[in-house]
Amino acid sequence: MKYLIDSGNIKAIEHISEFYPIEGVTTNPTLVSKEKTDFLPLIKKIRSIIGEDAALHVQTTAKTAEDILEEARGLKKAVGGQFYVKIPINEEGLKAASMIKAEGIGVTMTAIFTSQQALIAARAGADFVAPYVNRLDNINADGVGTVAEIAELFDIYSLDCKVLAASFKNVKQISETALAGAHCATISPELFRQAISHPMTDNAIEGFERDWKSVYGEKGVGDFLL
Ligand code: E4P
Repeated sequence: MKYLIDSGNIKAIEHISEFYPIEGVTTNPTLVSKEKTDFLPLIKKIRSIIGEDAALHVQTTAKTAEDILEEARGLKKAVGGQFYVKIPINEEGLKAASMIKAEGIGVTMTAIFTSQQALIAARAGADFVAPYVNRLDNINADGVGTVAEIAELFDIYSLDCKVLAASFKNVKQISETALAGAHCATISPELFRQAISHPMTDNAIEGFERDWKSVYGEKGVGDFLL
């Protein structure tokens, strides 16, 4: 499973992309509006941080297929690189997906809550579908189970569409999503940190430092290689 950053925050994106193996960034209108700044400079800044080869998924706000297509063209021109327009699934969104794909622009169909939505989105030409794991769990549905169903369907029908699982609130959901066969997960900067944190790891590192220092003092491995 590959990892993307689910954020519109420049500082957080800079930090996570410096230290973690990320494939790209996803935003949505909620994440962008939290930043309370001009939309286009923000998106361009994200592109400059992650580079042209990383995937940037940016959501449209238009309501009709024709307007969604216009926004997709404008966004692609503005941000360039590996770009995917995020479109919430509905009839206009599906129509837009086929039109946008025909122009060679990438499509991520988002706000996916069922495997049938995902299958139909894939048939409409979506490159990615984004099932919302935590929002499903919140309503006593099965977020990870839905991801597993979608991954299985894409496999059964040999579809190229990838599962970009989204909406996570804890590391357990991310781990189970990986086992369920998701190709990618987009997660918040906080969850990246939590995913690699463990008190036993901190303890192990402290032990290594203590034992080393007791024999070699302040010298590091590098000092012996000079
Ligand atoms: C990402 O593409 C989704 O829009 C996002 O993960 C939704 O997350 P939320 O349920 O925390 O808002």
